[in-house]
Formats: sequence, C-alpha cells, structure tokens
Amino acid sequence: MSNVVRTLALGLGLFLAACAAMQQQKAQASRAADTGEFHNLQVFPQNISHDELIANMRGFAKALGTRCDHCHVSNPPGSKEQLDFASDAKPEKNVARAMMRMTRGANDQIAKAVNPHGQMITCNTCHRGHTVPDVTAAEGGATPGR
Ligand code: HEC
Ligand code: HEC
Repeated sequence: MSNVVRTLALGLGLFLAACAAMQQQKAQASRAADTGEFHNLQVFPQNISHDELIANMRGFAKALGTRCDHCHVSNPPGSKEQLDFASDAKPEKNVARAMMRMTRGANDQIAKAVNPHGQMITCNTCHRGHTVPDVTAAEGGATPGR
C-alpha cells in the first residue's frame, strides 16, 4: 500500500469510528428520553427525581387534606387502586398546575422584595388541610385594589 492510500484508509477508519460513537450517543440520549419516568410534566422539570416528585405529591395531598385521587383519575374508572397519574382528565389537576405557578411566582416576588423570616409560600400556607382554604375564621379578606 502506498503511503497516500494508507493515510486515507486510516483517516476513513477514524471518521467511521467517530460516526459510530456519535450514533451511540444519540441512541443513548433518545433511550433516556423514551424511558423518562414521567410522561406529562408541564410545571416540574422533566428530570425531577422520582423521590422529589413523590415528596411534592405527598405535600399536595397533605396540604389539601385529600388523597392522590383528588387530582388523579382512576383507571379503569371506579377502581380504587389504579390511578392514571399522567392523565389530565380531572380538572383539579390543572387547577393544581395553576396553583403551582402562582406559588412559584409569589415566592419569586417575596424573595426579591422581603424575606426576613426565611419563609416561603407553600400550598399549606393557604390550604391548611382544606381543598378550599377556610378563611371564615379571620375577617379582613381585603383584596388589593385593582
Ligand atoms: C392537588 C392535586 C394533586 C394531588 C393531591 C396529587 N397530585 Fe400528582 N400531580 C399533580 C399535578 C398537577 C401533576 C403534574 C405536574 C406538572 O405538570 O409538572 C402531577 C403529577 C403526578 C405524577 C407524574 C405523572 C406523569 O407521568 O406525568 C405522579 C406519578 C403523581 N402525580 C403521583 C401522585 C401521588 C402518588 C399522589 C398522592 C400521594 C398525588 N400525585 C397527589 C397534582 C396532584
Ligand atoms: C395564596 C393562597 C394559595 C396558595 C399558596 C395555594 N392555593 Fe390552592 N387555592 C387557593 C384558593 C383561595 C382556592 C379556592 C379558589 C376557589 O374559590 O375556587 C384554591 C383552590 C385549589 C384547588 C381546587 C380545590 C378544589 O378541589 O375545588 C386545588 C386543587 C389547589 N388549590 C391546589 C393547590 C396546590 C397544589 C398548591 C401548592 C402548589 C396551592 N393550591 C397553593 C389558594 C391558594
């Protein structure tokens, strides 16, 4: 083999090896996306860990004084054990998303403006074990002027 041919062959070999490595990386990335544990996250980050998501869900249920099925439909309908967590069929789930965005926004504003006690707003700040916050105890439900 002449030197020119040998160099070309070596170059082609390296090129093909690089292509193979790239293909493999792509396959790995798409496999990770396919097997992503959760399928319908619109507010939480896609890469939230299982433990963190479930801890949040337990917090939601506790704050509202409900079980998981307050926001998640059962599948098949009426079955007690099987919940279809990815389904958006229950309107409460989308209300919860709006509440998550509101809570996040409020915390952004608070952190920017004032936070001497280091407290953040959570679902429980308002809900305290009720699906609809109970504000009857304290009068003075002033609505900021609009
Ligand atoms: C107050 C409503 C509410 C309650 C109660 C609730 N969830 Fe959720 N859950 C949501 C919302 C909203 C999402 C979607 C979040 C998003 O879009 O980022 C979600 C998403 C999930 C997901 C991810 C589904 C997917 O594949 O996208 C799982 C799993 C889940 N919840 C489990 C639970 C469990 C277990 C409980 C009970 C301990 C529970 N949830 C209680 C509102 C609720
Ligand atoms: C600033 C106070 C506040 C915070 C914080 C808050 N909520 Fe709410 N939430 C309300 C009020 C008020 C209502 C009732 C609205 C109405 O009159 O229908 C409500 C209603 C809801 C409902 C519908 C209740 C039902 O079943 O009819 C869900 C679900 C809910 N909130 C979930 C959440 C979740 C989850 C969080 C935390 C991510 C949260 N909320 C944080 C004030 C709050």
